[in-house]
Amino acid sequence: MNPILAAALQEQRSIIRANMTTAKNILVINGPNLNLLGSREPDQYGTETLKGIEARLAGLAKQAGVRFAAYQSNSEADLVDRIQQAGRDKVDFIIINPAAYTHTSVAMRDALAAVGIPFVEVHLSNVFARETFRHQSYFTDLAVGIISGLGAKGYELALEFALQYSKRG
Ligand code: DQA
Repeated sequence: MNPILAAALQEQRSIIRANMTTAKNILVINGPNLNLLGSREPDQYGTETLKGIEARLAGLAKQAGVRFAAYQSNSEADLVDRIQQAGRDKVDFIIINPAAYTHTSVAMRDALAAVGIPFVEVHLSNVFARETFRHQSYFTDLAVGIISGLGAKGYELALEFALQYSKRG
């Protein structure tokens, strides 16, 4: 191979390798029943599926050159385990919709406090315009911020924020 081309390829490979280890690492976590998005109470949560939302976020993250993963579970224990894993994986930022666990889960709150990863809390619906039990969140006071009521767009806005977020402000 032409030595100039070989050197250019070598350099490109090492840039990609460096980016894979130093690029910002963003994780999206969704809690119970959000696997049913698309068919679940569409008036409340819209008609887009979770797979569709995750694919769009993955595309935006790729364009921005950051590492990205998405996780959903209906199990509180699995969600706690995934948050702990994020701590070991050195995830930089979490976007989380804890769904019904928003209003009940001290365990997930404690996991987020333990790993100390900055996060934005997202809700598709405006939880403050709904039943009073949804006004209480175990997450909001630990969160960098909350987006509620903007539907699936809320995840995109949270990702946009995560991309420019730095702990130094
Ligand atoms: C939700 C709001 C929660 O109150 C509810 O239990 C959910 C979804 C939302 O995205 O609007 O499952 O987090």
